[in-house]
Amino acid sequence: MSDNTIKTEILVHDLKVPVSVIDAGAKSLLNRQEVYGPLTDKQVKVLKRIIRNTLATQRLVNDVLELGRSREGVMITSDFPVFELVRSVLIENFDLSEPEVVEKIRKTQNYHELLQILEIKSVRLSFEKTTWMTIVHLDYVKVKQILRNLVTNAFKHKSTLVEIAGKIIENRLILKIKDDGKGIPPEDHKKIFETYFTTGAPIENAIESHGLGLAGVMVLLKDMGGNLALESDHGQGAEFTVTIPL
Ligand SMILES: Nc1ncnc2c1ncn2[C@@H]1O[C@H](COP(=O)(O)OP(=O)(O)OP(=O)(O)O)[C@@H](O)[C@H]1O
Ligand SMILES: [Mg+2]
Repeated sequence: MSDNTIKTEILVHDLKVPVSVIDAGAKSLLNRQEVYGPLTDKQVKVLKRIIRNTLATQRLVNDVLELGRSREGVMITSDFPVFELVRSVLIENFDLSEPEVVEKIRKTQNYHELLQILEIKSVRLSFEKTTWMTIVHLDYVKVKQILRNLVTNAFKHKSTLVEIAGKIIENRLILKIKDDGKGIPPEDHKKIFETYFTTGAPIENAIESHGLGLAGVMVLLKDMGGNLALESDHGQGAEFTVTIPL
């Protein structure tokens, strides 16, 4: 690892403490009004926004650190069911914008009920029962980061629908993430996997898009001996297929 990489990673690592102090402070104000004094509705709203954004920051920090770990070839595997992975990615996806959907997802253990909750939110799941219930042995954090990045992208670019499908074939977990947005023109298919490549107007993109997500996904997948395939044409939506050996 180069000195610069180590420096950057230590810097990112050291963000953890101040961010959690901000988080704890905002949560104290919100949840312990008997100690810190009563809040107006507007103040509650601002505090909730602060808490949501500290969560987003914590995730970014963890993602960067996880990538560093991947580059060094460190794996932490465990047993978990496929549904656990998909559910938690969905929860994280809605966490920042729609807490009431998250509540509903958390409450249900039933696949068909989950389908109904998600249908209203323009997500379609397609898993066979056996796949959904299968317990896989993989690096949970890494697989989750991969799926979360692809799902976030699909939500960012969709027109009306995001589809997440999964199956297990010949001891490989295959996940498909598909949207019906404007798609990716063939000349960009290679470029989107490069760091800092984004499409669209630079100014509107600068905050939302860093062009790091897919490059990170590739690092994580390489580490696990998996791969990523893209099928998309301009105007046709995009379909990403992840294959991970079990
Ligand atoms: N589902 C998709 N539909 C259309 N374009 C996509 C899709 N997924 C990715 N892209 C294109 O690929 C580029 C790179 O994606 P990537 O996830 O690496 O970065 P990003 O989403 O722009 O930012 P971030 O670093 O926050 O993930 C995007 O800017 C976008 O132009
Ligand atoms: Mg992205």
